[in-house]
Amino acid sequence: MILLDGKAASEKLLKTVKERVSALKKKPHLVVILVGDDPASRLYVKNKQKAAWQTGIRSTVIELDYNTQENELINRIEELNTDEDVTGILVQLPLPSHIDKNKVAAAISPLKDVDGFSPENVGRLTMGTEPYFYPATPQGVIMLLDEYQIPIEGKDAVVLGRSNIVGKPMAQMLLRRNATVTLCHSFSKGLDDKIKTADILVSAVGKKIVRCKMVKNDSVIVDVGIFRDSDGQLTGDVDFDYVSDSAGYISPVPGGVGPMTIASLMFNCSKIYQ
Ligand code: GUN
Repeated sequence: MILLDGKAASEKLLKTVKERVSALKKKPHLVVILVGDDPASRLYVKNKQKAAWQTGIRSTVIELDYNTQENELINRIEELNTDEDVTGILVQLPLPSHIDKNKVAAAISPLKDVDGFSPENVGRLTMGTEPYFYPATPQGVIMLLDEYQIPIEGKDAVVLGRSNIVGKPMAQMLLRRNATVTLCHSFSKGLDDKIKTADILVSAVGKKIVRCKMVKNDSVIVDVGIFRDSDGQLTGDVDFDYVSDSAGYISPVPGGVGPMTIASLMFNCSKIYQ
């Protein structure tokens, strides 16, 4: 079994991004909007800022009160859309429940939508046209597979979880690379049998869901889940000890997909369209 070392791969990618940025005439400027003060979101934003700094990307964080209204947030986004000094806009999720995240995503200019969540970028991904930006997490997964020269074309891929942030774009990106994709969710029947068909398994659920002993021999297991177990330890969706006898490759948690997501976002931030 080979570990998919996301830490090492992300450092390599960050180095490439830094070189790209230093060669750019116009320097990227990422603006992150954080609404409310969810501690996990605050930590993610801090890590994004750190990676931006490391790669020579300017970043600004706009902190808005939890009670900010949807139209106020959208107004701020519209100002940033037309601000020539700003090249990337990211609204940290989750948003307070009184704000519709899809309306917010639709307000971001597709040319500055470094998360790839705007309807135009999602539509382009689905239609098979090149989006301006691919969502960072699934793009990071593909980059990690490519780093290990793991073939995707013609493989049976199973994705667990159908979120807009990971599951759905992951399925689309694997499809784009000519995998045969099964997208599973909480209503899927016979999950264990479906998991056993996977040459490539991507789990993005946030629960210990991959426990079955028999993942396919020599399969590639990518664990996107990250949460704390009852002992407070950071863990992923995959019960590592169960599957490590059969799997060919596994991404660890932490140190797998997490660092790739950040580096992949920085790669997006280094793309400037205006
Ligand atoms: N919250 C969890 N993942 C993400 C992400 O990829 N982008 C944003 N904006 N918020 C998130």
